[in-house]
Amino acid sequence: MNPSTLLGTASIPNNGGVLRLTQRGNDFSIHLQGLRGELMNSRVHSSELALAELGCAHIQGRKNTKVLVGGLGMGFTLASALKATTDSSEVVVAELVPEVVEWNKGPLGECAGRPLDDKRAVVHVGDVADLFKAKQVNTDQASYDAVLLDVDNGPEGFTKADNNNIYSIQSLRAIGQTLRLRGVLAIWSAWYDQKFTQQLKKASFDVEIKTVRAHKGKGSRHTIYLAKKR
Ligand SMILES: C[S@@+](CC[C@H](N)C(=O)[O-])C[C@H]1O[C@@H](n2cnc3c(N)ncnc32)[C@H](O)[C@@H]1O
Repeated sequence: MNPSTLLGTASIPNNGGVLRLTQRGNDFSIHLQGLRGELMNSRVHSSELALAELGCAHIQGRKNTKVLVGGLGMGFTLASALKATTDSSEVVVAELVPEVVEWNKGPLGECAGRPLDDKRAVVHVGDVADLFKAKQVNTDQASYDAVLLDVDNGPEGFTKADNNNIYSIQSLRAIGQTLRLRGVLAIWSAWYDQKFTQQLKKASFDVEIKTVRAHKGKGSRHTIYLAKKR
């Protein structure tokens, strides 16, 4: 087996610990230092692509749409969102860790076909939660047709503990306020959580659950919560 090479490390803001980027052969891994585990591996990315395919299905072929992707990771969801939207659309990607953006400008960027080079991609370096804080007062001022969230391994803080707040009912309602009419919030998860489905419903979303395989129709089953604004 090829040895694993450490390509970089980065501190997660707010005492979130350390992210490590490693490479083994053609495969890259981003993981949390210590026993906390892997956040993403380039070898397995079908469900990250599906997050954008499913979350953007309602805006297929529509002009001037706007999509928010939270976190960049290895860029698969961003690339898939760019593919799913038209030339006049914009895809904002929020990434908490500045080094992750830099890694994607280097060799890691090849994994997803260098989506950051697409002129429709706009990078927000910072916490995706900040983009939900400016409360919208009516639907005309809402920002996004789709919000695609994959910042943890599911609807609980994994990258950093205070990501837990993103999945609270208050935050889900705030996300709903940023969505345009018939907008969709799609959330990636390594597991299914019935309580979270109820939470989304309480926050005024209609919820559909999609199960997708991790790798080309094989491997682990991941969940995508498709929450449609009522
Ligand atoms: C699992 S990876 C995303 C994988 C991505 N879907 C892809 O296709 O490669 C999670 C990413 O979210 C970032 N992240 C974690 N918490 C965040 C937050 N609160 N705001 C923005 N980005 C965050 C992490 O640094 C990491 O890059």
